Amino acid sequence: MPLNPQLDTLSDYPFEALRTLLNPITPRVNDTPILMSVGEPQHQPPVLLTETLAKHASEWNRYPPMAGTPELRQAIVDWLTRRYNLPAGALNADANIMTLAGTKEGLYLFSSLVVPREKAGQRPVVLVPNPYYLVYNGAATMAGADAVFLDATRDNDFMPDLAAIPRETLERTALFYLCSPANPQGAIATLDYLKQAIRLAREYDFVLAVDECYAEIYDKAPPAGALQACAEIGEGFDRVVVFHSLSKRSSAAGLRSGFVAGDRKLIGHYSHLRSYGGCQVPLPIQAAATALWCDEVHVEENRARYRRKFDIAESTIAGRYGFYRPDGGFFLWLDVGNGEEAAVRLWRDAAIRVLPGGYTARAAEGRPNPGSKYIRLAIVHDEATLEEAFARIRRVL
Ligand SMILES: Cc1ncc(COP(=O)(O)O)c(C=O)c1O
Repeated sequence: MPLNPQLDTLSDYPFEALRTLLNPITPRVNDTPILMSVGEPQHQPPVLLTETLAKHASEWNRYPPMAGTPELRQAIVDWLTRRYNLPAGALNADANIMTLAGTKEGLYLFSSLVVPREKAGQRPVVLVPNPYYLVYNGAATMAGADAVFLDATRDNDFMPDLAAIPRETLERTALFYLCSPANPQGAIATLDYLKQAIRLAREYDFVLAVDECYAEIYDKAPPAGALQACAEIGEGFDRVVVFHSLSKRSSAAGLRSGFVAGDRKLIGHYSHLRSYGGCQVPLPIQAAATALWCDEVHVEENRARYRRKFDIAESTIAGRYGFYRPDGGFFLWLDVGNGEEAAVRLWRDAAIRVLPGGYTARAAEGRPNPGSKYIRLAIVHDEATLEEAFARIRRVL
């Protein structure tokens, strides 16, 4: 049976590799397993969510509008305007916003929109930070582009070095997926960095898609956003979109609710494409999402809880494994020398599952895999579980 041959080149699903590594091993200890490999929020979602879903329970029978209800899109405009200090009227709910069934599907389908058959007479390029969220590579590959991996290491503050991208690569680039706060390193792109990326997109005629799904989980200062950078440059949102999600902000990964916002031409074309291949969000979910984007109380509580978790991490493992407190997101990115070996030891001797950093990054163009020395830990559990986890990690590593 003929299949799309591009699929065969996708073999970087990190959790498959993790199962292959750890499933044959039975922990030697009787401790309760602690799974720190998956970035799944463990806080209960806010009551506002369940109450609003219940109030709209009679609406499951109706087909929802693909772009989102007017109320949801307006709530998103208001939130973006407040959060990023955008000029009043800069965003229009009909033109600049499209709701998504979680950002994963939206990020994936987006490459089908903006990757042409050829760019500058050659196979197009999609720029992907390295380490990366696997969907960026999947989207690039299935759209027929060459994914070009930009290493984001300690040497460049864990953000790709924009000045180092060769001109020939930029000329072939159709799309750049940037992630800030970055999964897994927690680094935040500064406003200047975002402006530089936007200027490159405009100069070389490609689309900048900034994945800001961790934007509300931060330690000290709220991360800058790409729409904010556009507003400061003052030339509209040309060639720029941002992706946001309620999965982390509202601990609602199961709600499957996010949005894309930005360049009105792109949103218009995306709307056309999504009427063929997009996923509508049920009306009760859209109502819940509207309520959640209008509320900051639960978000502040959520953020405070993550800060306490990082306090625990800092007080127990600072000074070891290259520990640093990330500016955003909820992962620890620890330099343990050999991530795979550490993951095996932690599972075998402490019943803790972590992700070897090399599984979420790759060796590209002869350079070593920038994640292979690291492990990624999702700091999502309750405080007692985290205390226990760090005590075990110190015992074993
Ligand atoms: C960097 C990044 N982007 C996007 C997503 C997708 O989130 P969702 O589809 O739940 O909105 C995730 C989920 O883990 C992620 O880590």
